Amino acid sequence: MEYPLPMEKNHLDALLAISQEINSIQKIDPLLTTVMDRAMQALQAERGFLILRDSDSGDMAVKIARNISDESIKDTTEISTSVVQSILKNGQPVLTHDAQEDPRFKGSESVVFHGILSVACVPLRIKEQLIGCIYVDSRSQRRMFTQESLAFLTAFANQAAIAIENAQLYEKLRAENIRLKKEVREKFRFEGIIGQSSKMRQILDIVERISDSDVSVLIQGESGTGKELIARAIHYNGSRKEGPFVAQYCGALTETLLESELFGHKKGSFTGAAEDKKGLFEAADNGTFFLDEIGDISPNIQTKLLRVLQEGEIKRVGETQTRRVDVRIISASNKDLAHEVKKGLFREDLYYRLNVISIHMPPLRERKEDIPLLTQHFFEKYCHTSGKPIERIASKTMDTLLTYHWPGNVRELENTIERAIVLARGSTIRSEDLHIPKSIDYTNEAQTLRDVERNFVLKVLDECDGNKTKAAKRLGVSLRWLHYRLREWEQ
Ligand SMILES: Nc1ncnc2c1ncn2[C@@H]1O[C@H](COP(=O)(O)OP(=O)(O)OP(=O)(O)O)[C@@H](O)[C@H]1O
Ligand SMILES: [Mg+2]
Repeated sequence: MEYPLPMEKNHLDALLAISQEINSIQKIDPLLTTVMDRAMQALQAERGFLILRDSDSGDMAVKIARNISDESIKDTTEISTSVVQSILKNGQPVLTHDAQEDPRFKGSESVVFHGILSVACVPLRIKEQLIGCIYVDSRSQRRMFTQESLAFLTAFANQAAIAIENAQLYEKLRAENIRLKKEVREKFRFEGIIGQSSKMRQILDIVERISDSDVSVLIQGESGTGKELIARAIHYNGSRKEGPFVAQYCGALTETLLESELFGHKKGSFTGAAEDKKGLFEAADNGTFFLDEIGDISPNIQTKLLRVLQEGEIKRVGETQTRRVDVRIISASNKDLAHEVKKGLFREDLYYRLNVISIHMPPLRERKEDIPLLTQHFFEKYCHTSGKPIERIASKTMDTLLTYHWPGNVRELENTIERAIVLARGSTIRSEDLHIPKSIDYTNEAQTLRDVERNFVLKVLDECDGNKTKAAKRLGVSLRWLHYRLREWEQ
């Protein structure tokens, strides 16, 4: 960019001060107001306006006007159009000492009408692209603006354009953030949780009643029953919904690693701790912390966790200083924690702290009435994402879905439907597309006697709707034998 003239020191000082001021304003409206006001003050202009390209429509529009009545803004834009056109054409700022005599404006009705004499107008550019302009004028004085004031206004406009771009980006990110937060909230509203069975209704009723409080919740249930889904529903329906939801899987991590993940560490406190690190409890401050597979944590971490629950305090690994955190704890386990307590593997005091409210997610085979609804839900979801024109699920297919015992619960059902949609050839999903075991396959050499026994027992149990007494009778075994086997298979 060429400047017509070098600027005087006091103008440079003013430019620096103004640049610092506008760079500290993040929001677009106050920023534009300040830009306009500072430009007017610096040039002692009588009137002024700022034009900006609308990022949605691409149209140039007056965003701020000073000392110009609303009615004349429309008129003003007429002259501004000729000025902007002139800037667009040759990329140069416009300076007029006497608009009445200037051939560029001669004949323009609005100039004559308003009796404008001096005009200075400079482009606002971002990376060579014109995004608008700053216009100032005077009706009372010829030669109000000099080449020097134009140089000042041009340099000022360059700074302003950068600040405007930053503010627009900031607003865009802010809007995006609000939209995403809303989307996540909606995704985890109860509507996202399918289930009309009385067991699911009872759970949703509890979720509703406990969301707004801070009590600890322990969610137990088999894999894939929706424990995390419920944990999120509690968070996103409660008073902490604007705060973070942080989840940590506690199984299969070394003790050192898990401890530093949860509580953070001080630089050098163990090999590999190269920097100070904030733990997830701090990250979850004012929100909810979901501790998944809590049954797997070591006695040492159990003790530290108890401290968070009792005192609301954490200590980073290698630090003596304590830090306060305000976190609601929801934990989940697919082990029976009471059983772990009995075996001496889990601290009883911690168990009671975590288990203020207890939610038990029933396995899918115990709420078969939810299968058609869930199937429909996943069918619509995956038809939509796959874009395949599948119309329906054959009624025989639904029978197969209803009789299967779903050891992987809702997650397995979801995967099965997704796979079936990918594999389906016609417009209907058939049982063959499901690829779930229909009956015990004795020809499968990979199966051990234990597998065959287990599958057979579970199938019969399934046909008896989970009624163990009935199943034992049909199998010709004692109820004790059945209980013993079921427990063994759970390990
Ligand atoms: N009632 C439900 N309605 C709709 N989707 C569900 C429902 N229950 C579970 N799902 C879906 O099933 C999948 C498994 O759920 P989730 O991850 O919450 O289970 P989990 O109990 O935490 O499993 P794991 O013990 O294996 O971690 C997810 O994709 C979830 O959205
Ligand atoms: Mg889970």
